[in-house]
Amino acid sequence: MAIKFELIKKSNKSNARRGRLYTPHGVIETPVFMPVGTQATVKAIMHRDLYEMGTQIILANTYHLYLRPGIDVIKEAGGLHRFMNWQKPILTDSGGFQVFSLGKLRTITDDGVEFRSHIDGSRHFFTPEKVIEIQNILGSDIIMAFDECVPYPVDHEYAKWAVERTARWLKRCKAHHKNTENQALFGIVQGSTYKDLRIESAKRTIEEDLPGYAIGGLSVGEPKELMYEMIEVLHPILPEDKPRYLMGVGTPDCLYESVIRGVDMFDCVFATRTARNGTVFTKEGRMIIKNAQYAKDFRPIEEDCDCYTCQNFTRAYLRHLIKAEEILGAILLSIHNVRFLLRFMEKLRKDIEEDRI
Ligand code: GUN
Ligand code: ZN
Repeated sequence: MAIKFELIKKSNKSNARRGRLYTPHGVIETPVFMPVGTQATVKAIMHRDLYEMGTQIILANTYHLYLRPGIDVIKEAGGLHRFMNWQKPILTDSGGFQVFSLGKLRTITDDGVEFRSHIDGSRHFFTPEKVIEIQNILGSDIIMAFDECVPYPVDHEYAKWAVERTARWLKRCKAHHKNTENQALFGIVQGSTYKDLRIESAKRTIEEDLPGYAIGGLSVGEPKELMYEMIEVLHPILPEDKPRYLMGVGTPDCLYESVIRGVDMFDCVFATRTARNGTVFTKEGRMIIKNAQYAKDFRPIEEDCDCYTCQNFTRAYLRHLIKAEEILGAILLSIHNVRFLLRFMEKLRKDIEEDRI
């Protein structure tokens, strides 16, 4: 079954969209937040809990899985879904972002990127073709093109180079991707914070006529206002009938601001990473559970949260677990934060349906 996107409703108050994405492993209601499972696990959360929380799709990373356990292992297991026994959709990132984050450990040429493993220093070479082959073996429902994500700030000239290289690499990715029936290849729009480059990159990406489009190279240290401006520039250009995925974004305020600007899909490590550090989301803002004020606070993190953590444990107990560096602390706070974002998105979907945003 080829991936299909259905636009259910367009808001008349904003650019927000309510949609449905059909994949071989299930239907995804959009706008959607995708918990990040870089190494084929959403850190500290069991599959059982992810299902129970209402997770619709998770993200995994080509770069990490290629280095460890290795693609041969996942191939022999029968693909990533079988290897990790995850029954719902999976999106894999191409490694574009990870490889470029390696700094001194990598060299970019037009053919691809040579890099050293962050695990053992071994040498590897990623090309657009290789990255597609790996993702074909992983068998993820949505695969990402190999792109060049530039840091912020970067000058216009280099950002333009990266846009052109990303466009040339996209052609190679598309030509090499054979499994179009079961895996949707998304192109990635780059262009840093330059409007003209974003427009140019979007045009070059759309020319390839793909089942979905991602906005990359944002949330890399630029002011939020610039990120929103870039989404606004892209709104009228990106095809209305295809899903739009803003990569690496996932704080409640950015999710809201991006949804009303027309974005359908998001992923971010922030919820789970910050939970392991002892910070939780609440409707009133972030709560640092280690703070002394919670020592004898026997209320849940949030009175009206339906997550397993809030249904069963107090702030005082969670504070104790985090201070004592107990594994359960990381687990329980991760569950709350992911459920918080999933519920936040459920609310946004309802708000779109009922014309509130
Ligand atoms: N994750 C966050 N930003 C990016 C990006 O620009 N490219 C890719 N491939 N992944 C990302
Ligand atoms: Zn909770």
